This record gives sequence, C-alpha cells and structure tokens, in this order.
Amino acid sequence: MEAVLLPKSWNVDQILDDLDQHGFAIIDDAYSDDYVHQLIEECTSNLNLFREAAIQNGVISKIRSDHILWLNPELVISHHHVQALYSLGQELNRAFYLGIRDVEAHFACYNAGEFYALHRDNPQGKNGRMISTVYYLHEDWQNDWGGELHLQDKNDIWHVLHPKPNRIALFQSDLLHEVLEAKHQRLSITGWLRSDSTIL
Ligand code: OGA
Ligand code: MN
Repeated sequence: MEAVLLPKSWNVDQILDDLDQHGFAIIDDAYSDDYVHQLIEECTSNLNLFREAAIQNGVISKIRSDHILWLNPELVISHHHVQALYSLGQELNRAFYLGIRDVEAHFACYNAGEFYALHRDNPQGKNGRMISTVYYLHEDWQNDWGGELHLQDKNDIWHVLHPKPNRIALFQSDLLHEVLEAKHQRLSITGWLRSDSTIL
C-alpha cells in the first residue's frame, strides 16, 4: 500500500500520546468538506451492495445488525482514507513498533433500531488486528439519536463517544466496546490496522 500525506487536522503527537495513555484517541474534523461530500456520495450510491455483517461463523443478528460493504481500491474515494490510515500506521510503527503492515476496512450502515453488542475486535490477540478505527460519515448527528460507541479504555474507564460526523475514533483492538441502538441511519467506515497481511 502507498503512504500518503496525513491531513493537517491530524495531530499525530496527540494521537500517539492518547493511544499510549488511554488506549484510544479521537480525531475531529478529520477531512475537508469537499472530501467528506465525495465520501458520502461514494457510500450512499453503493448502499444497495451492502450485506448483513457476519461474526466469524455467520450472521448473528442478536449480536450485530448492521450492513457492510468491504472496501477495495476501486472505491477510489474511500481508498484514500484507507491510505491515510496506513500512513498513520507507519507513524504508530515508528513510535510503538506495532508492526502494522496492512489495513482492511468496510463501510457500515446501521439503520434505525440496529446495534452491535459488547465485543472485542481482537480477543486475546487471536487475529492481526492491532488498532480499530471508525470514521463517521453521515451528514448530521444529534446527541439524542443513540448510536454511541461505548468503549472501555486501557485503564478500565468507560467512555461514551458520539458518532459525530467527520470524526475518527481510534482504539486498541483488544478493548471492550459496543454500539448502542441507533435511532437514525448511521454511516461509517470501520478500518483495522493489522500486523499480518492479506496481500504480502
Ligand atoms: C466494529 C465496531 C464501532 C462503531 O465495527 O467492530 O465496533 O462505532 N464499530 O461503529
Ligand atoms: Mn468493534
């Protein structure tokens, strides 16, 4: 994967410090308005291709009920976000020797009533996922629309993170978290910085 320049709004030192201290970090106003609109367009024009999300051995709608579409380089707009995540991964490698080699990502759509129950993206280091990232790309979000990300940080303190548009939440993939029931359509890109690779 090719590295790209990180947007100026990404304060890498702060991100590294927050990940180190708390196991998670937030980037607000991550991208320019122009890019955000292109992303929303790419996501919403492909909603008909989204499929029920699976958990390891299949679809279990009691655990998660969102719909997803895996990204690939042909989805050129979102691929740029994937490349930015990869570049951030290189910074994490320099700081923490995480050995990040790849990024996998999908669009996710939670319609009203949908959620994702408590889970870890990488329980007991079973897979190569090191850092989980979630970028929120719906146009608007009110604090009483549900859909919060509940996250237990590395010091066992719980946080409520609202899915604010143009926000990226980053956290260690071994941390416990859940998505509360959304009351409006909630659109995102979930991406994982991985220490293994599906390509190499
Ligand atoms: C996930 C996840 C959190 C969110 O996709 O594994 O936990 O806020 N997403 O969408
Ligand atoms: Mn998760």
